[in-house]
Amino acid sequence: MATQTDESPHTQADTFAPTLVRWQRLHGRHDLPWQHGDAYGVWVSEIMLQQTQVQTVIGYYARFMARFPTLAALAAAEEGSVMESWSGLGYYARARNLHRAAREIIQRFEGRFPAAIDDIASLPGVGRSTAAAIATFCFGAHEPILDGNVKRVFARVFGIEGFPGTRAVEQQMWAQARELMPASDGVAYTQALMDLGATVCTRGRPRCSDCPLRERCVARRDGRQREFPAPRPAKVRPQRLRFALLIECAGRVLLERRPGQGIWGGLLSLPELAAQNLTDAETEASRWLANHGLPDHVVEVMAPVIHGFTHFELHLVPLHITVVGSAAPLLAGEAPLHWQPLDDATEAALPAPVRKLLAQHDADRRTPRPLP
Ligand code: ADE
Repeated sequence: MATQTDESPHTQADTFAPTLVRWQRLHGRHDLPWQHGDAYGVWVSEIMLQQTQVQTVIGYYARFMARFPTLAALAAAEEGSVMESWSGLGYYARARNLHRAAREIIQRFEGRFPAAIDDIASLPGVGRSTAAAIATFCFGAHEPILDGNVKRVFARVFGIEGFPGTRAVEQQMWAQARELMPASDGVAYTQALMDLGATVCTRGRPRCSDCPLRERCVARRDGRQREFPAPRPAKVRPQRLRFALLIECAGRVLLERRPGQGIWGGLLSLPELAAQNLTDAETEASRWLANHGLPDHVVEVMAPVIHGFTHFELHLVPLHITVVGSAAPLLAGEAPLHWQPLDDATEAALPAPVRKLLAQHDADRRTPRPLP
């Protein structure tokens, strides 16, 4: 819920937009290359700006518009050449959607960029906020926007708790956006919100002393700028406990090629045990080593390696095995097993957390231990 500042909500809504519009005229950006173009150019820029900062977009935008100066030129282009112009910008679905949308505009709207927000929002790759920006910048509409920057501004100014990606918080912000949207000066107001989020109310280091909303900002009042907007809640993933053998003999470690299916399929890794708990793991380890001709060894439990997968968190507990005597018996005819010199374990095709574990272990064994 929003925490109220000293002003009543009524005066907030009354003065919010005029304050921003005034600030935009004095301190906002007025010379961005797409600010004086047609709807086609504004659309291209808004799609580029969805995930990329202005400074990077400027060069790409100029090259893209030189190559595809009109909607018709973009629609007529091969997809490959559109992708080529996008190369380096990332999030390539944006380029594919832009190209598809250009062809749709030719077919559905007789080649003329649609003016109605619902038509704009029906194009591939165009969300509600992007459609609102285009409708407002190009067609005199007064439609509220709500992109990541605006969410950050709203969260701070109104002290809106909760991660903005959740439905409830997003709906609250859309309601706020609708309420604050002025009936005039839509272009300056919309550009002000974008400019403020990008240049003043930044994620890392907001420049609050330059902010036109500083007197009414809940986050600034309470010194909680860093807490807004709330981050995405950490996923609660089930934990999977596994035990692995870090078998060391004469500066080498024993690796096993994992089956092609499943996690880390086809990579080399430490041999794993099916045990459910440490006692079983130690028993199983002894059996495994005896079966592989290594009955004489010393076992030491190491700190777990924790690695997040999409659907679970792996807690891999390595049992460090020091083989006493020679490991020669294991070398014969054990195809999936492989002795790897510890000092070049980072060269092997290992999963990243196992590579990190072995690098750390290699460093530790070289560090002289203090005398007891
Ligand atoms: N970010 C998204 N759209 C923008 C625009 N039109 N100008 C500046 N920054 C933006």
